[in-house]
Amino acid sequence: MNYDIAVVKGDGIGPEVVTEAIKVLDKIGEKYGHTFHYNYVLAGGAAIDATGKCLPTDTVDICKGSHAVLLGAVGGPKWDDLPGDERPERALLGLRKALGLFANLRPAMVFDELADASPLKAEIIDGGLDIVVVRELTGGIYFGEKGTKKTDMGPAAYDIEQYSEGEVKRIAAVAFDMAMKRNKKVTSVDKANVLESSRLWRRVVAEVGKNYPEVELENLYVDNAAMQLVRNPKQFDVLVTSNIFGDILSDEASQITGSIGMLPSASLATGNFGMYEPVHGSAPDIAGQNLANPIATILSVAMMLRYTFELSQEADDIEEAVKKFLAAGYRTPDICAGKESIGTKETGDKIASLI
Ligand code: NAI
Ligand code: MG
Repeated sequence: MNYDIAVVKGDGIGPEVVTEAIKVLDKIGEKYGHTFHYNYVLAGGAAIDATGKCLPTDTVDICKGSHAVLLGAVGGPKWDDLPGDERPERALLGLRKALGLFANLRPAMVFDELADASPLKAEIIDGGLDIVVVRELTGGIYFGEKGTKKTDMGPAAYDIEQYSEGEVKRIAAVAFDMAMKRNKKVTSVDKANVLESSRLWRRVVAEVGKNYPEVELENLYVDNAAMQLVRNPKQFDVLVTSNIFGDILSDEASQITGSIGMLPSASLATGNFGMYEPVHGSAPDIAGQNLANPIATILSVAMMLRYTFELSQEADDIEEAVKKFLAAGYRTPDICAGKESIGTKETGDKIASLI
């Protein structure tokens, strides 16, 4: 099979980590007989330097014409003085919108070999941890009606949380589809004891769940979910929630992991189209020095294989190679805890060689 991937290397460490992820992807292609075509496009600071715009129209068109997008990270001090809507980071919002990316997937994984980097006690994450937060990305309070008004207590401001059945249906379907490719459990997080929008959310998620009889559905209030994530995270597999709750819970979950250099993410549209990127930014402080950990980006391409291309064995293969890499004692500087470390390129080479 041929797969078309639009690639935004981006700024700072972006090009360094993307290069290593592509090395790994090519190794998968070789082993399994797939051809990955890379359409290199500009967005962010590099695009501003070359074209004056952070998200050129060409970039959007080529992304739309590809099966998936791989993105490093954008931004950096060079462009910090630009006005908000001209900054490199604006390209991310523009891409999300143009590509209809309504589902944000943030796995929180603790590899057994790195368990001591987690702030949680060893017995809580014994044997590793692998959960995913599925966050609705284009609705809810961040995009609802907002404004100001006068009240008895002085000037007031408001933001409205609103969800339609259609919006909840499509995000729920993403979560259940994902559960089918994983461990067949979905936890829907809401505040249905207080919020009308959450009652609709809970009802629609349950309706969608009827199409997935093999998947166990559990509902949890968001305050309880926040506690359970640090008390007993292993009870979860897929968590699905609204934009604002997902923003907070995915950051909480990411901290269980230890290093930002290990965290992948995906944003999906309908029809399995997705944009895959590490959670971290362009890390200008270590850019160009072969110090960046490319594992977040390497695990992002594993997600691309699993969720857009439906190549789960190939995805497993990458995750296994990362585990073997860690088990053999290799570490990048961010996870070496003062011990000996290896560089970005050597990490990519080693992980590719373990496939
Ligand atoms: P950052 O994630 O780039 O860096 C935070 C800290 O983590 C730094 O000390 C950095 O060296 C370290 N770090 C990040 N990724 C690493 C990796 N792969 N390996 C080893 N260490 C790593 O966040 P920061 O400093 O707040 O932002 C830097 C620039 O990146 C800003 O311009 C920001 O707007 C942009 N940014 C872009 C994002 C994106 O493109 N999705 C996301 C977050 C920030
Ligand atoms: Mg956030």
